[in-house]
Amino acid sequence: MKFFIDTANLAQIKEAQELGVLDGVTTNPSLMAKEGITGRNNILKHYVDICNIVDGDVSAEVISTDLKGMIKEGEELAELHEQIVVKVPMIKDGIKAIKYFSDKGIRTNCTLVFSCGQALLAAKAGASYVSPFIGRLDDISTDGLNLISEIRHIYDNYEFQTQILAASIRHTMHVIDCAKIGADVMTGPLSAIEGLLKHPLTDSGLAKFLEDYQKGN
Ligand code: E4P
Repeated sequence: MKFFIDTANLAQIKEAQELGVLDGVTTNPSLMAKEGITGRNNILKHYVDICNIVDGDVSAEVISTDLKGMIKEGEELAELHEQIVVKVPMIKDGIKAIKYFSDKGIRTNCTLVFSCGQALLAAKAGASYVSPFIGRLDDISTDGLNLISEIRHIYDNYEFQTQILAASIRHTMHVIDCAKIGADVMTGPLSAIEGLLKHPLTDSGLAKFLEDYQKGN
């Protein structure tokens, strides 16, 4: 399972990269705004800065919602760095854009996916990644993990190469459950990655080992 971090915060991306388990980064316009990154040039520069920190794919989202605009923006983003994956929303023109990019060898991440039908369309169009938002489904009392299972089943039926990128991860159990189901990738906050480290028996066991070592020395 690949681990992506879902942030535009350079310090957190560095921290995850230094842990040695990071495979990529996802961003979105809200995450960029949260870091105060505004204006086209600053945004493009920030994507390059992220690419220079992480060894792996970096999703950069288009803002346009029409085919022509998405193609123009996506080509500009893809030109920025070889690690860039163009993130395209799950709308009608988005599907057309994914097909266009796929035919041109530009990698895509189809975002804002909330149903199996949407995931099937994204795969048919040739998306490199599909991003079902499990946390946002859970927020409205709908089982986000069930969507990951159903997409896994459908993709395996037809051997679609589109990778399932479980997005909107909120906590460590989302990560573990997605791994059990067989999601190809998860993207979440640093806390969900670092939370996997924690166990009280590890802490107490280590404290005892160190205490016993001190007694004998
Ligand atoms: C996916 O790529 C999105 O950036 C993200 O996972 C959305 O998560 P949220 O629901 O926590 O905003």
